[in-house]
Amino acid sequence: MLEIPSYFQQLFTAAELDDRIGELAAEIDTDYAGREIHLVGVLRGATTFLADLSRRIQLPLSYDFIAVSSYEGSTSSGVVKLTKDLEESVESSHVIVIEDIIDSGLTVNYIMEMLQSRKPASLALCALLDRPHHRKIDIELNYTGFKIPDRFVVGFGLDFEQKWRQLPDIWAIN
Ligand code: IMP
Ligand code: MG
Repeated sequence: MLEIPSYFQQLFTAAELDDRIGELAAEIDTDYAGREIHLVGVLRGATTFLADLSRRIQLPLSYDFIAVSSYEGSTSSGVVKLTKDLEESVESSHVIVIEDIIDSGLTVNYIMEMLQSRKPASLALCALLDRPHHRKIDIELNYTGFKIPDRFVVGFGLDFEQKWRQLPDIWAIN
């Protein structure tokens, strides 16, 4: 058994995450009814969320991944770099970007601007977590799992120094 340090505080259980992800999938099903969608997951934090969300969506879909670097440890450097591009073109697709968490907004702003320039049929943003306290740029979130307090979080794909991604629940660490 993986031991959880005593200073970790549980924010969301796997069951709560599962329920909310089901609701987000239902919203997406309604909004995109009759269309095909293309999910773009942001590596690596969004993989768990994308895996669960995609399995709850009833519409035809495809997905692809993109990677950027912008974070060192737990503080943002503010510089965003593309480290892995998409495999497929997004031109004329209904694209939904899938993120784990929006903090300053700089990472996702860079991704949204880049994808918009590639002429998708539509472009939306879905983030599991929204921590608005340190936003540096205005971000329009089309789908949000949970707003969270100003705490660093791990689990369900989110890491601290590449660890703890495998935890099924989300924990705040201080
Ligand atoms: P932003 O560019 O400041 O919005 O940072 C967003 C990115 O930083 C996310 O895609 C995460 O990968 C990472 N990040 C931000 N906050 C946390 C956190 O609390 N835990 C783990 N990763 C985080
Ligand atoms: Mg990320």
